[in-house]
Order: sequence, then structure tokens, then C-alpha cells
Amino acid sequence: MGLLSLFLFLCASSGLLLDAPRALFLRLHKGTESAGGSTRFRENTQGKGGGGGGGGQGVHSRARRELDSGSDGITNNSSAGWKIVRQGFTFPAGAAPFNSCHASTIVEVERGNFLVAYFGGSHEGAPDVKIWLQRYSDGCWQPPWMADEQPEVPMWNPVLFQLPSRELLLFYKIGQEVQKWSGCMKRSVDGGITWSDREQLPPGILGPTKNKPILLDDGRLLCGSSVESWNSWGAWLEVTTDCGRSWRKHGPIYIEGETLGVIQPVPYLTAGGSVRMLLRSFENIGYVFMAESENGGITWSFARPTELPNPNSGGIDGVKLRDGRLLLVYNTVSRGVLKFASSVDDGDSWVEIMTLEEDLDMEFSYPAVIQAADELIHVTYTYNRTQIKHIVLQHSDVGGL
Ligand SMILES: *[C@@H]1O[C@H](CO)[C@@H](O)[C@H](O)[C@H]1NC(C)=O
Ligand SMILES: *[C@@H]1O[C@H](CO)[C@@H](O)[C@H](O)[C@H]1NC(C)=O
Ligand SMILES: *[C@@H]1O[C@H](CO)[C@@H](O)[C@H](O)[C@H]1NC(C)=O
Repeated sequence: MGLLSLFLFLCASSGLLLDAPRALFLRLHKGTESAGGSTRFRENTQGKGGGGGGGGQGVHSRARRELDSGSDGITNNSSAGWKIVRQGFTFPAGAAPFNSCHASTIVEVERGNFLVAYFGGSHEGAPDVKIWLQRYSDGCWQPPWMADEQPEVPMWNPVLFQLPSRELLLFYKIGQEVQKWSGCMKRSVDGGITWSDREQLPPGILGPTKNKPILLDDGRLLCGSSVESWNSWGAWLEVTTDCGRSWRKHGPIYIEGETLGVIQPVPYLTAGGSVRMLLRSFENIGYVFMAESENGGITWSFARPTELPNPNSGGIDGVKLRDGRLLLVYNTVSRGVLKFASSVDDGDSWVEIMTLEEDLDMEFSYPAVIQAADELIHVTYTYNRTQIKHIVLQHSDVGGL
């Protein structure tokens, strides 16, 4: 593939400056290791507004200064042992074939090789919104390419997941509006280079609404699904044992006495063997919620509040690390504040670790978070609806810090 080699070439020649719009599109972001002492994160300055030249109010300017002025060019919370070792955008501002993008998902395809997907078009819900994919390898982002489109009908919330067989699943929704969307998927058996035709999920099965599923040892893939219909918000667990060909669903999972309750589950397994999910809640409710199943996801408790604020300020995502810690990336007061918290007791209690973004005039939303094979944590999220930001976090327990 000529285009691909051109990209790899440009990636290697990091100093290239090209000025045609298409060339801008091609100008890739080289991931920068933190090892170099005074290394700057070139990617950090390329976003629209990413250079910190704007308004700078309150805590935001402090957070932004930390990002920009750390002696090693990185933000960290040394007492907690966490630092951001890399950050950038999946494409430069203004360089994508769409104005607006949102709802990213990330998966590690093989060591150091990642795919992200998100939806992009004129604006969320516009008839030209399609699903886009981008690959990250050797520290470089390749340009977006279209995974699927449906004339005159918007697409929504892709979710990527890789099975142990290495088959990749790409779930997403298609429909004029959230209340009417239907679940769809595609598969890839070559690491995301080629994809199957679209498969439509059975009626009433939506697939994972926003966050990645988890695969249990017994082969069941647990997908956190939810419904946002008139005066009714609630979650379901959709389960497939044959890679998305047949389904069962369990629920509803909701807040006792609330019609507008919880959506977009983050499922995970606890140390004690129960299945839990963290949930985004409606605005008057105000917190991230949690529900639990003691029988592998078949019957569920009512959802109950955690201590983490989330007044419907946006989607959340979390990951259970291999060392047993649970991480969550979430919005607090608004989509202008994105934080990252950690729990050592499967979500019963939390410590706030880092403010990843803070600017109340902007939107940093819909995080997706995974732990890579090398233990690093990769987070992608919507950056003011115009770009997808990618950050990599490292804990001092790993990677020889
Ligand atoms: C963020 O998006 C808002 C809404 O579109 C826009 O008014 C604002 O200028 C953007 N901020 C930056 C820094 O891009
Ligand atoms: C991060 O921590 C290191 C020490 O581990 C320190 O030298 C550096 O200044 C810190 N960076 C910021 C932005 O606080
Ligand atoms: C750093 O993490 C600790 C928990 O280990 C937390 O108490 C503290 O507030 C964090 N610092 C910042 C600046 O978020």
C-alpha cells in the first residue's frame, strides 16, 4: 500500500513540514518518549487551543501550566505514582474529513499497535455521521479511514474489542436518533486491515453502548448496554458466547424509584468473583453509580451511588488493571473537567488521582481506557468535539520508573 508506506516514511522523518491541506492531514504526530529529560510533547501543542494561549481561568490555567511547564514536560501525581508519559491528538486540528467527532474507543491489536474508532461528521446526529478508524503504530497515528456509512442515517458510539482468537469486533449503532438506533457490528481477522460486511444485531440487542465488554473465562462476552427512551433510562447486560452471533440479555439494571436513572455501563469482575458495572447517571442524580451481580450477570442489584460526582456530565470509562486496581476516567461538574480516579476495593471507595483536563469553556468527554500489554494505560477522549486526544499513563510500579 503506497499510502501506508508514505505515512510510515513521514512518521520517520519527523521534521517534515508540508503545507497543502492534504499534506497537513498527512503530517503525523510522532509519539515522544519521556526518557529524554527535556523532551517536549510536540503533540501537546498541535491541538486547537492546546497551546494554552486562551482564557486561562482558575484551576484550568494551573492544570494547563502543569502540562506545559513541568521540567520533564509531563504531568504527574508523584505521591500516587502516576504520570502522563505521552499525549497527543490522533490527527491535527482541522485535518480530518469531518468537522466533528466523538465517542472514541481504543483496542491494542498487537504489542504497540492500536486501533481507535469514533464517529465523525458535520455534528453528532447529522445524517453524514460515519464510523472512522485510525491505527497507531510505532508511535505514529495514521489518518482516519471510514469503517462504515449509511446514506442519510447517522452512526453512533463504536466499541472495539479483540477476542483471544485475535478476531476484532467493532460494534456501533445506526439510527436517526438515540431512541431509534439499532445495534450493528463488523469483524476483522487481520488486525483491522479488512472488515466484514455489516451485520445487524437481533432486534432489541444494541451491543455495548459506549464501553468495551469483558470476556469471562467461561467464554461469555459481557456487554454493557443501555436504553435512553422517553422518561426511561436504564441498563442491561447483553451476553454472547459465540462472538456476537447469538445473544441473551439480563436486566433491567436501574435505580430503585427513578425512571431516568443510569446508562452506559462499564462492566468488570471483582476480586470476589461478582460482576459489577459502573454507570453514568441522569443529572439530578449526580453520581457515578454501581450495580452488582453475584451470579455472573444474570440477576442484578439496584444501582447505588459511588462517591464520584457525575451529574450526567458525560460518559465514563474504566478498566480493571491486572494488579487488581480499578481505574475510572470521568467528567465531574461538566464536560470541561476530566478526572481520573483509582479504587483498590473494586469501586467501593475511590481516590482521585489526576485532573486530566480542566477548562469549563471546552469539552473533554467520552473517555475510553485500556491497559496495554506493557502495562501502560491508554486513554482516548473527545477533545472539544473537533479531535480525539490520546494520552498514555504510567504507574511507578511498572516500567522501571
Ligand atoms: C471549543 O468548542 C466551543 C464550542 O464549539 C467553541 O466555542 C470554542 O471556541 C472551542 N474552544 C477551543 C479552544 O477550541
Ligand atoms: C513530575 O515528577 C518529577 C519527579 O518524579 C518532577 O521532577 C517533575 O517536575 C514533575 N512534573 C510536574 C509537571 O510536576
Ligand atoms: C494525588 O493522588 C493522591 C492519592 O494517592 C490524592 O490524594 C491527591 O489528591 C492527588 N493529587 C492531585 C493533585 O490530584
